[in-house]
Amino acid sequence: MTLINTPDPEDRARVVAQDLANVLHPLVQHRALEKKQMVVVSAQGSTVFDADGSAFLDAMAGLWCVNIGYGRRELADIAAEQMRAIAYYPHNAMNLPAAQLAEQINTLMGGGYHVYFVNSGSEANEAGFKFARQYAKHEFPGEFRFKTIARYYAYHGTTLSTLAAGGMGDRKVKFEPYDGAFVHAPAPTCYRCPMGLEYPSCGVACAKAIETTILGEGPQTVAEVIVEPIMSGVGVAVPPEEYLPMVEAICRKYDVLLHVDEVINGFGRTGRMFGHQNWGISPDIMAVAKGIISAYLPLAATVVKNKVFDSFLGDPADGRQVFQVNTFGGHAAAAAVAVRNIEILLEEQLAQRAATMGAYLMDALKGRLMKHAIVGEVRGRGLLIGIELVTDRETKVQLAGALVQGVVDHCRENGVIVGRSGGGARHSNTIVLSPPLIITRGECDTLVEALDQALLAAVATMAGAG
Ligand SMILES: Cc1ncc(COP(=O)(O)O)c(C=O)c1O
Repeated sequence: MTLINTPDPEDRARVVAQDLANVLHPLVQHRALEKKQMVVVSAQGSTVFDADGSAFLDAMAGLWCVNIGYGRRELADIAAEQMRAIAYYPHNAMNLPAAQLAEQINTLMGGGYHVYFVNSGSEANEAGFKFARQYAKHEFPGEFRFKTIARYYAYHGTTLSTLAAGGMGDRKVKFEPYDGAFVHAPAPTCYRCPMGLEYPSCGVACAKAIETTILGEGPQTVAEVIVEPIMSGVGVAVPPEEYLPMVEAICRKYDVLLHVDEVINGFGRTGRMFGHQNWGISPDIMAVAKGIISAYLPLAATVVKNKVFDSFLGDPADGRQVFQVNTFGGHAAAAAVAVRNIEILLEEQLAQRAATMGAYLMDALKGRLMKHAIVGEVRGRGLLIGIELVTDRETKVQLAGALVQGVVDHCRENGVIVGRSGGGARHSNTIVLSPPLIITRGECDTLVEALDQALLAAVATMAGAG
Protein backbone atom coordinates (compact mmCIF):
# COMPACT_ATOMS: atom_id res chain seq x y z
CA MET A 1 0.00 0.00 0.00
CA THR A 2 1.20 3.49 -0.77
CA LEU A 3 1.48 6.02 2.01
CA ILE A 4 -1.64 8.09 2.32
CA ASN A 5 -1.18 11.78 2.80
CA THR A 6 -4.48 13.04 1.52
CA PRO A 7 -7.83 12.17 3.09
CA ASP A 8 -9.30 9.11 1.40
CA PRO A 9 -12.00 7.13 3.25
CA GLU A 10 -11.11 3.87 1.48
CA ASP A 11 -7.44 4.09 2.33
CA ARG A 12 -8.34 4.94 5.92
CA ALA A 13 -10.63 1.95 6.26
CA ARG A 14 -7.91 -0.29 4.81
CA VAL A 15 -5.31 0.99 7.30
CA VAL A 16 -7.70 0.44 10.20
CA ALA A 17 -8.41 -3.16 9.13
CA GLN A 18 -4.72 -3.89 8.52
CA ASP A 19 -3.74 -2.35 11.83
CA LEU A 20 -6.39 -4.10 13.92
CA ALA A 21 -5.41 -7.44 12.41
CA ASN A 22 -1.69 -7.03 12.95
CA VAL A 23 -0.59 -4.34 15.41
CA LEU A 24 -0.30 -4.53 19.19
CA HIS A 25 -0.59 -0.95 20.44
CA PRO A 26 0.89 0.49 23.62
CA LEU A 27 -1.39 1.43 26.53
CA VAL A 28 -4.70 1.62 24.65
CA GLN A 29 -7.23 -1.18 24.99
CA HIS A 30 -7.82 -2.80 21.60
CA ARG A 31 -11.51 -3.18 22.31
CA ALA A 32 -11.66 0.64 22.43
CA LEU A 33 -9.57 0.92 19.26
CA GLU A 34 -12.03 -1.30 17.44
CA LYS A 35 -14.67 1.38 18.05
CA LYS A 36 -12.68 4.57 17.53
CA GLN A 37 -9.30 5.20 15.95
CA MET A 38 -7.04 8.02 14.96
CA VAL A 39 -5.12 7.46 11.71
CA VAL A 40 -2.54 10.20 11.35
CA VAL A 41 -1.38 11.15 7.89
CA SER A 42 0.30 14.51 8.19
CA ALA A 43 1.06 17.34 10.58
CA GLN A 44 2.15 20.95 10.46
CA GLY A 45 3.20 23.24 13.29
CA SER A 46 1.08 22.22 16.28
CA THR A 47 -1.65 20.53 14.23
CA VAL A 48 -2.03 16.85 13.38
CA PHE A 49 -4.33 15.65 10.60
CA ASP A 50 -6.33 12.44 10.52
CA ALA A 51 -6.97 10.55 7.25
CA ASP A 52 -10.65 11.45 7.63
CA GLY A 53 -9.69 15.11 7.19
CA SER A 54 -10.11 16.19 10.80
CA ALA A 55 -7.47 18.40 12.40
CA PHE A 56 -6.27 18.33 16.01
CA LEU A 57 -4.38 20.98 17.92
CA ASP A 58 -1.82 18.77 19.66
CA ALA A 59 -1.30 20.28 23.10
CA MET A 60 0.83 17.25 24.05
CA ALA A 61 3.40 17.53 21.21
CA GLY A 62 2.92 13.79 20.64
CA LEU A 63 4.25 12.25 23.84
CA TRP A 64 5.73 15.51 25.22
CA CYS A 65 8.36 15.51 22.48
CA VAL A 66 7.80 17.42 19.23
CA ASN A 67 9.37 20.56 20.66
CA ILE A 68 10.08 22.37 17.37
CA GLY A 69 6.67 21.44 15.96
CA TYR A 70 5.62 19.18 13.12
CA GLY A 71 6.33 19.32 9.41
CA ARG A 72 9.84 20.80 9.22
CA ARG A 73 10.75 19.62 5.72
CA GLU A 74 14.39 20.61 6.05
CA LEU A 75 14.84 17.82 8.59
CA ALA A 76 13.66 15.30 5.99
CA ASP A 77 16.19 16.75 3.54
CA ILE A 78 19.01 16.52 6.09
CA ALA A 79 18.15 12.88 6.89
CA ALA A 80 18.07 12.04 3.17
CA GLU A 81 21.38 13.77 2.50
CA GLN A 82 23.09 12.00 5.41
CA MET A 83 21.60 8.64 4.36
CA ARG A 84 23.00 9.08 0.87
CA ALA A 85 26.47 9.61 2.37
CA ILE A 86 26.27 7.05 5.18
CA ALA A 87 23.18 6.36 7.28
CA TYR A 88 24.81 4.19 9.89
CA TYR A 89 27.95 2.51 11.08
CA PRO A 90 28.56 1.15 14.62
CA HIS A 91 29.62 3.83 17.04
CA ASN A 92 32.94 2.28 17.98
CA ALA A 93 33.92 4.24 14.85
CA MET A 94 33.42 8.00 14.74
CA ASN A 95 31.03 9.92 12.54
CA LEU A 96 30.67 13.62 11.90
CA PRO A 97 27.05 14.30 12.94
CA ALA A 98 27.34 12.36 16.23
CA ALA A 99 30.56 14.20 17.13
CA GLN A 100 28.88 17.51 16.27
CA LEU A 101 25.80 16.65 18.32
CA ALA A 102 27.87 15.62 21.35
CA GLU A 103 29.75 18.92 21.15
CA GLN A 104 26.47 20.86 20.93
CA ILE A 105 25.12 19.14 24.05
CA ASN A 106 28.37 19.57 25.95
CA THR A 107 28.37 23.28 25.05
CA LEU A 108 24.75 23.67 26.20
CA MET A 109 25.86 22.13 29.52
CA GLY A 110 28.70 24.65 29.81
CA GLY A 111 31.39 22.03 29.02
CA GLY A 112 32.87 19.23 31.09
CA TYR A 113 30.69 16.35 29.80
CA HIS A 114 30.81 13.43 27.35
CA VAL A 115 27.79 12.02 25.54
CA TYR A 116 26.80 8.35 25.05
CA PHE A 117 24.13 7.77 22.39
CA VAL A 118 21.15 5.44 22.70
CA ASN A 119 17.65 5.28 21.18
CA SER A 120 15.09 6.06 23.87
CA GLY A 121 14.70 7.77 27.21
CA SER A 122 14.41 4.41 28.95
CA GLU A 123 17.73 3.29 27.54
CA ALA A 124 19.29 6.62 28.47
CA ASN A 125 18.30 6.16 32.12
CA GLU A 126 19.21 2.48 32.04
CA ALA A 127 22.71 3.35 30.78
CA GLY A 128 22.86 5.95 33.56
CA PHE A 129 22.19 3.30 36.24
CA LYS A 130 24.93 1.13 34.78
CA PHE A 131 27.42 3.97 34.50
CA ALA A 132 26.77 4.91 38.14
CA ARG A 133 27.44 1.32 39.23
CA GLN A 134 30.54 0.97 37.08
CA TYR A 135 31.86 4.32 38.36
CA ALA A 136 31.30 3.15 41.93
CA LYS A 137 33.11 -0.14 41.24
CA HIS A 138 36.14 1.82 40.02
CA GLU A 139 36.11 4.65 42.56
CA PHE A 140 34.97 2.88 45.76
CA PRO A 141 36.61 -0.54 45.48
CA GLY A 142 36.08 -1.46 49.13
CA GLU A 143 32.37 -0.64 49.03
CA PHE A 144 29.35 -2.07 47.25
CA ARG A 145 27.58 0.99 45.85
CA PHE A 146 24.86 -0.20 43.50
CA LYS A 147 21.59 1.33 44.68
CA THR A 148 19.63 4.09 43.01
CA ILE A 149 17.46 6.29 45.23
CA ALA A 150 14.38 7.43 43.32
CA ARG A 151 11.07 9.07 44.25
CA TYR A 152 7.58 7.63 44.50
CA TYR A 153 5.34 8.65 41.58
CA ALA A 154 8.33 9.23 39.30
CA TYR A 155 8.39 7.84 35.77
CA HIS A 156 11.76 7.01 34.25
CA GLY A 157 10.89 4.57 31.48
CA THR A 158 9.43 1.26 30.48
CA THR A 159 12.25 -1.31 30.81
CA LEU A 160 12.37 -3.44 33.94
CA SER A 161 15.04 -1.34 35.64
CA THR A 162 13.56 2.03 34.71
CA LEU A 163 10.16 0.77 35.87
CA ALA A 164 11.79 -0.36 39.11
CA ALA A 165 13.25 3.15 39.49
CA GLY A 166 9.85 4.65 38.77
CA GLY A 167 7.39 5.02 41.57
CA MET A 168 4.06 4.45 39.86
CA GLY A 169 2.69 1.28 41.39
CA ASP A 170 -0.11 0.82 38.87
CA ARG A 171 2.39 0.77 36.00
CA LYS A 172 4.66 -1.69 37.81
CA VAL A 173 2.29 -4.16 39.34
CA LYS A 174 1.89 -6.55 36.40
CA PHE A 175 5.61 -7.03 36.02
CA GLU A 176 6.63 -7.67 39.62
CA PRO A 177 9.02 -8.59 41.09
CA TYR A 178 11.86 -6.12 40.61
CA ASP A 179 15.34 -6.31 42.03
CA GLY A 180 16.17 -4.49 45.23
CA ALA A 181 18.55 -1.94 43.76
CA PHE A 182 15.92 0.82 43.59
CA VAL A 183 14.83 2.48 46.81
CA HIS A 184 12.18 5.18 47.01
CA ALA A 185 11.75 8.41 48.93
CA PRO A 186 8.74 10.74 49.05
CA ALA A 187 8.28 13.06 46.07
CA PRO A 188 7.90 16.86 46.14
CA THR A 189 4.24 16.69 45.12
CA CYS A 190 3.33 19.73 47.21
CA TYR A 191 -0.37 19.95 46.34
CA ARG A 192 -0.69 16.51 47.93
CA CYS A 193 2.29 16.42 50.24
CA PRO A 194 3.02 12.76 51.01
CA MET A 195 3.98 13.81 54.54
CA GLY A 196 0.88 15.93 55.09
CA LEU A 197 2.96 19.09 55.45
CA GLU A 198 2.80 22.53 53.91
CA TYR A 199 5.51 24.59 52.28
CA PRO A 200 7.42 26.51 53.63
CA SER A 201 6.80 25.38 57.21
CA CYS A 202 7.65 21.81 56.06
CA GLY A 203 11.33 22.82 55.82
CA VAL A 204 11.38 20.86 52.55
CA ALA A 205 11.12 17.60 54.47
CA CYS A 206 10.97 15.62 51.20
CA ALA A 207 14.54 16.69 50.34
CA LYS A 208 15.69 15.75 53.86
CA ALA A 209 14.04 12.36 53.34
CA ILE A 210 16.58 11.66 50.58
CA GLU A 211 19.33 11.97 53.19
CA THR A 212 17.43 9.76 55.62
CA THR A 213 17.07 7.17 52.85
CA ILE A 214 20.78 7.25 51.99
CA LEU A 215 21.69 6.90 55.66
CA GLY A 216 19.11 4.17 56.22
CA GLU A 217 20.39 2.15 53.28
CA GLY A 218 24.01 2.84 54.17
CA PRO A 219 25.88 5.34 51.96
CA GLN A 220 28.41 2.63 51.08
CA THR A 221 25.59 0.87 49.15
CA VAL A 222 24.24 3.90 47.27
CA ALA A 223 25.55 4.76 43.79
CA GLU A 224 23.20 7.57 42.78
CA VAL A 225 20.02 9.56 43.24
CA ILE A 226 17.74 10.03 40.20
CA VAL A 227 15.42 13.03 39.88
CA GLU A 228 13.29 14.50 37.13
CA PRO A 229 13.55 18.27 37.88
CA ILE A 230 9.84 18.91 37.31
CA MET A 231 8.02 15.59 37.63
CA SER A 232 5.89 15.38 34.50
CA GLY A 233 3.88 12.16 34.40
CA VAL A 234 2.47 12.50 37.91
CA GLY A 235 0.77 15.74 36.86
CA VAL A 236 3.55 18.35 36.62
CA ALA A 237 4.96 18.71 40.13
CA VAL A 238 7.21 21.76 40.33
CA PRO A 239 9.43 21.34 43.41
CA PRO A 240 9.94 24.10 45.99
CA GLU A 241 12.87 26.39 45.09
CA GLU A 242 15.20 24.85 47.71
CA TYR A 243 14.46 21.23 46.84
CA LEU A 244 16.91 20.44 44.04
CA PRO A 245 19.85 22.40 45.53
CA MET A 246 19.24 20.52 48.80
CA VAL A 247 19.20 17.15 47.00
CA GLU A 248 22.40 18.08 45.18
CA ALA A 249 24.13 19.03 48.47
CA ILE A 250 23.06 15.70 50.02
CA CYS A 251 24.50 13.80 47.03
CA ARG A 252 27.80 15.65 47.37
CA LYS A 253 27.92 15.00 51.12
CA TYR A 254 27.78 11.22 50.63
CA ASP A 255 29.71 10.96 47.33
CA VAL A 256 26.54 9.81 45.61
CA LEU A 257 26.10 10.69 41.91
CA LEU A 258 23.24 12.98 40.91
CA HIS A 259 21.37 11.52 37.91
CA VAL A 260 18.96 14.00 36.33
CA ASP A 261 16.20 12.79 34.00
CA GLU A 262 15.72 15.51 31.38
CA VAL A 263 13.76 13.31 28.99
CA ILE A 264 10.73 15.64 29.09
CA ASN A 265 12.16 18.70 30.86
CA GLY A 266 15.06 19.05 28.41
CA PHE A 267 15.43 21.09 25.23
CA GLY A 268 13.46 24.17 26.12
CA ARG A 269 10.28 22.73 27.60
CA THR A 270 10.51 24.51 31.00
CA GLY A 271 11.77 27.85 29.68
CA ARG A 272 15.47 26.93 29.99
CA MET A 273 17.42 24.60 27.73
CA PHE A 274 17.43 22.02 30.54
CA GLY A 275 15.01 21.83 33.46
CA HIS A 276 17.75 21.58 36.09
CA GLN A 277 19.13 24.96 34.92
CA ASN A 278 16.11 26.58 36.60
CA TRP A 279 17.76 25.64 39.90
CA GLY A 280 21.47 25.93 39.05
CA ILE A 281 22.32 22.33 39.91
CA SER A 282 24.97 20.29 38.12
CA PRO A 283 24.11 16.69 37.15
CA ASP A 284 26.76 13.98 37.17
CA ILE A 285 24.61 11.90 34.82
CA MET A 286 21.83 13.27 32.62
CA ALA A 287 19.34 11.38 30.45
CA VAL A 288 18.00 13.20 27.38
CA ALA A 289 15.57 12.04 24.66
CA LYS A 290 12.34 13.37 23.09
CA GLY A 291 13.12 17.10 22.48
CA ILE A 292 16.75 16.34 21.54
CA ILE A 293 15.38 15.44 18.10
CA SER A 294 11.76 16.53 18.49
CA ALA A 295 10.88 12.91 17.61
CA TYR A 296 11.79 13.31 13.93
CA LEU A 297 13.80 10.08 14.37
CA PRO A 298 14.54 7.95 17.46
CA LEU A 299 17.60 9.23 19.34
CA ALA A 300 18.48 9.71 23.01
CA ALA A 301 21.63 10.08 25.08
CA THR A 302 23.22 9.63 28.48
CA VAL A 303 25.43 12.59 29.28
CA VAL A 304 28.14 12.07 31.89
CA LYS A 305 30.31 14.55 33.73
CA ASN A 306 34.00 14.19 33.00
CA LYS A 307 34.67 12.81 36.49
CA VAL A 308 32.55 9.81 35.43
CA PHE A 309 34.05 9.71 31.93
CA ASP A 310 37.56 9.86 33.42
CA SER A 311 36.76 6.87 35.59
CA PHE A 312 36.27 4.85 32.39
CA LEU A 313 39.76 5.74 31.08
CA GLY A 314 42.74 3.42 31.31
CA ASP A 315 44.77 0.91 29.42
CA PRO A 316 42.45 -1.33 27.30
CA ALA A 317 43.68 -4.29 29.32
CA ASP A 318 42.38 -2.62 32.54
CA GLY A 319 38.81 -3.17 31.34
CA ARG A 320 37.61 0.25 32.54
CA GLN A 321 35.84 1.15 29.27
CA VAL A 322 32.06 1.30 28.94
CA PHE A 323 30.86 -2.28 29.06
CA GLN A 324 27.89 -2.09 26.76
CA VAL A 325 26.88 -1.43 23.20
CA ASN A 326 23.61 -0.79 21.45
CA THR A 327 23.41 -1.32 17.72
CA PHE A 328 21.82 1.96 16.69
CA GLY A 329 23.60 4.29 19.15
CA GLY A 330 25.25 7.23 17.38
CA HIS A 331 23.19 6.65 14.22
CA ALA A 332 24.56 9.20 11.77
CA ALA A 333 21.29 10.11 10.05
CA ALA A 334 19.48 10.57 13.38
CA ALA A 335 22.38 12.61 14.77
CA ALA A 336 22.38 14.90 11.72
CA VAL A 337 18.68 15.57 12.26
CA ALA A 338 19.20 16.19 15.99
CA VAL A 339 21.99 18.70 15.26
CA ARG A 340 19.64 20.74 13.09
CA ASN A 341 16.82 20.35 15.63
CA ILE A 342 19.02 21.94 18.30
CA GLU A 343 20.12 24.70 15.90
CA ILE A 344 16.44 25.48 15.30
CA LEU A 345 15.75 25.54 19.05
CA LEU A 346 18.58 28.06 19.43
CA GLU A 347 17.92 30.16 16.31
CA GLU A 348 14.22 30.52 17.10
CA GLN A 349 14.93 30.97 20.82
CA LEU A 350 12.34 28.36 21.64
CA ALA A 351 13.34 27.96 25.30
CA GLN A 352 12.70 31.68 25.83
CA ARG A 353 9.52 31.32 23.83
CA ALA A 354 8.42 28.49 26.12
CA ALA A 355 8.93 30.84 29.06
CA THR A 356 6.92 33.73 27.59
CA MET A 357 4.21 31.67 25.87
CA GLY A 358 4.01 29.45 28.95
CA ALA A 359 3.41 32.53 31.13
CA TYR A 360 0.72 33.71 28.70
CA LEU A 361 -0.96 30.30 28.68
CA MET A 362 -0.72 29.91 32.46
CA ASP A 363 -2.34 33.34 33.01
CA ALA A 364 -5.09 32.52 30.52
CA LEU A 365 -5.74 29.13 32.13
CA LYS A 366 -5.90 30.59 35.62
CA GLY A 367 -8.10 33.45 34.43
CA ARG A 368 -10.57 31.24 32.62
CA LEU A 369 -10.54 27.96 34.51
CA MET A 370 -10.30 28.81 38.21
CA LYS A 371 -13.98 29.81 38.12
CA HIS A 372 -14.78 26.09 37.94
CA ALA A 373 -14.86 24.71 41.48
CA ILE A 374 -13.44 21.43 40.16
CA VAL A 375 -10.12 23.08 39.27
CA GLY A 376 -7.91 22.59 42.32
CA GLU A 377 -4.68 24.05 41.00
CA VAL A 378 -3.06 25.23 37.76
CA ARG A 379 0.72 24.82 37.99
CA GLY A 380 3.82 24.39 35.88
CA ARG A 381 6.78 26.12 34.34
CA GLY A 382 7.31 27.11 30.72
CA LEU A 383 5.15 24.98 28.45
CA LEU A 384 4.83 22.12 30.95
CA ILE A 385 1.53 22.64 32.74
CA GLY A 386 -0.84 20.64 34.94
CA ILE A 387 -4.47 21.40 35.83
CA GLU A 388 -5.46 19.30 38.85
CA LEU A 389 -9.15 18.42 39.04
CA VAL A 390 -10.93 17.85 42.37
CA THR A 391 -14.49 17.48 43.57
CA ASP A 392 -14.01 20.41 45.89
CA ARG A 393 -11.14 22.85 46.37
CA GLU A 394 -11.24 22.61 50.17
CA THR A 395 -11.23 18.83 50.53
CA LYS A 396 -9.01 18.24 47.46
CA VAL A 397 -10.74 14.92 46.86
CA GLN A 398 -9.70 13.74 43.38
CA LEU A 399 -12.26 14.10 40.62
CA ALA A 400 -13.52 10.67 39.56
CA GLY A 401 -11.45 9.04 36.82
CA ALA A 402 -14.37 8.87 34.38
CA LEU A 403 -14.96 12.62 34.71
CA VAL A 404 -11.26 13.43 34.20
CA GLN A 405 -11.24 11.20 31.12
CA GLY A 406 -14.45 12.94 30.03
CA VAL A 407 -12.57 16.27 29.98
CA VAL A 408 -9.80 14.75 27.82
CA ASP A 409 -12.38 13.20 25.47
CA HIS A 410 -14.47 16.39 25.23
CA CYS A 411 -11.38 18.35 24.19
CA ARG A 412 -10.52 15.74 21.57
CA GLU A 413 -14.05 15.74 20.18
CA ASN A 414 -13.56 19.45 19.73
CA GLY A 415 -10.22 19.12 17.96
CA VAL A 416 -7.81 19.61 20.86
CA ILE A 417 -5.51 16.93 22.28
CA VAL A 418 -4.66 17.23 25.98
CA GLY A 419 -3.08 14.62 28.24
CA ARG A 420 -3.85 13.12 31.63
CA SER A 421 -1.46 12.31 34.44
CA GLY A 422 -0.69 8.67 35.15
CA GLY A 423 0.07 8.42 38.84
CA GLY A 424 -2.38 5.73 39.89
CA ALA A 425 -5.44 6.32 42.07
CA ARG A 426 -3.86 9.19 43.98
CA HIS A 427 -2.43 11.17 41.09
CA SER A 428 -4.26 10.54 37.81
CA ASN A 429 -6.69 13.46 38.07
CA THR A 430 -4.53 16.12 36.42
CA ILE A 431 -4.92 17.37 32.86
CA VAL A 432 -1.42 17.82 31.45
CA LEU A 433 -0.28 20.16 28.69
CA SER A 434 3.02 20.00 26.85
CA PRO A 435 2.47 21.63 23.45
CA PRO A 436 5.10 22.26 20.77
CA LEU A 437 7.21 25.24 21.81
CA ILE A 438 6.13 27.05 18.63
CA ILE A 439 2.47 27.13 19.73
CA THR A 440 0.93 30.52 18.92
CA ARG A 441 -1.14 32.80 21.15
CA GLY A 442 -4.18 32.06 19.00
CA GLU A 443 -3.66 28.32 19.51
CA CYS A 444 -3.25 28.87 23.26
CA ASP A 445 -6.60 30.69 23.22
CA THR A 446 -8.19 27.76 21.35
CA LEU A 447 -6.76 25.36 23.94
CA VAL A 448 -8.08 27.40 26.87
CA GLU A 449 -11.51 27.67 25.24
CA ALA A 450 -11.65 23.89 24.68
CA LEU A 451 -10.71 23.21 28.31
CA ASP A 452 -13.25 25.74 29.58
CA GLN A 453 -16.03 24.03 27.59
CA ALA A 454 -14.89 20.55 28.65
CA LEU A 455 -14.89 21.57 32.33
CA LEU A 456 -18.35 23.11 31.95
CA ALA A 457 -19.52 19.78 30.51
CA ALA A 458 -17.93 17.89 33.44
CA VAL A 459 -19.65 20.18 35.96
CA ALA A 460 -22.97 19.63 34.13
CA THR A 461 -22.46 15.85 34.23
CA MET A 462 -21.78 16.03 37.97
CA ALA A 463 -24.90 18.16 38.53
CA GLY A 464 -26.94 15.69 36.46
CA ALA A 465 -25.64 12.75 38.43
CA GLY A 466 -26.17 14.57 41.74
C1 LIG B 1 10.71 11.51 32.57
C2 LIG B 1 10.81 10.38 31.60
N1 LIG B 1 11.90 9.59 31.62
C3 LIG B 1 12.05 8.57 30.75
C4 LIG B 1 11.07 8.27 29.84
C5 LIG B 1 11.24 7.11 28.91
O1 LIG B 1 11.46 7.55 27.61
P1 LIG B 1 11.13 6.58 26.38
O2 LIG B 1 9.66 6.45 26.30
O3 LIG B 1 11.74 7.30 25.20
O4 LIG B 1 11.82 5.29 26.64
C6 LIG B 1 9.93 9.07 29.78
C7 LIG B 1 8.86 8.78 28.80
O5 LIG B 1 7.84 9.41 28.72
C8 LIG B 1 9.78 10.13 30.70
O6 LIG B 1 8.68 10.88 30.73
